Amino acid sequence: MKKIIAANWKMHKTAGEAKDFVAKLAVLLKGNIPAEREIIIFPSFLSLSALVENRSMLSNVCLGAQNFYPETHGAYTGEISPVMLEDLKIDHVLAGHSERRHIFNESNDLVAKKTVFAMRNKFKTMLCVGETLEERENGKLNEVLKQQLGRVFEMAADDSSIPFDQLLSVAYEPVWAIGTGKVAGPDEVLEAHATLRSLLVEHLGPQGREVPILYGGSVKPDNAHSLLDLDNVDGLLVGGASLVADSFYQIIVA
Ligand code: PGA
Repeated sequence: MKKIIAANWKMHKTAGEAKDFVAKLAVLLKGNIPAEREIIIFPSFLSLSALVENRSMLSNVCLGAQNFYPETHGAYTGEISPVMLEDLKIDHVLAGHSERRHIFNESNDLVAKKTVFAMRNKFKTMLCVGETLEERENGKLNEVLKQQLGRVFEMAADDSSIPFDQLLSVAYEPVWAIGTGKVAGPDEVLEAHATLRSLLVEHLGPQGREVPILYGGSVKPDNAHSLLDLDNVDGLLVGGASLVADSFYQIIVA
């Protein structure tokens, strides 16, 4: 399986800055994404359209939306529908990022609804899950992961047509590691990823082994290689270190 290296730019970069970044990354990669890597960039909506127009700068780079609303159209002021993304030929989305859950109060139900809606509409959907420090300290890691991932399977229970192994990826992002410089230690990553893998296999059978599980939270060029080497780590979701072309490049080739 190719390792996925994903950039979550959050609310950073104007459209011009986004284009400059991709131009620099293309030079660093000499125009080619390494065969053993898949790269996904999640820019802001405005930069997304600018990058789509300039897609030829780095062919095979995947582009995705950080957010969307789970309806095709309607009176949802300020929201973007998957139909609009499809129109831009965007086929990747992020769901359930901890900033959406904690700053914008997205409930587990809404996140699961978005995840299932996106997959029903054939989007490759990266579902972010992870525990807060308080939940970890109270021994609730497994329970939280089970609730966050399990809700998606409950909501999709009446629909056997969703090819989870082709559309779903899960990003384990402990909330206490995001943007803090505190990367989770190898044992913590191994434990959480093993829990997620067994939940996936429990719900999907052998297909569950094909669903990529990424780690995210203070990934940097100097820890990327050792994280990618761990069992059940199929990729990395990178925030801060993905904003500079050189450090994102170092992570891609780590
Ligand atoms: P970080 O963010 O790499 O800056 O910790 C990761 C994320 O929020 O996806």
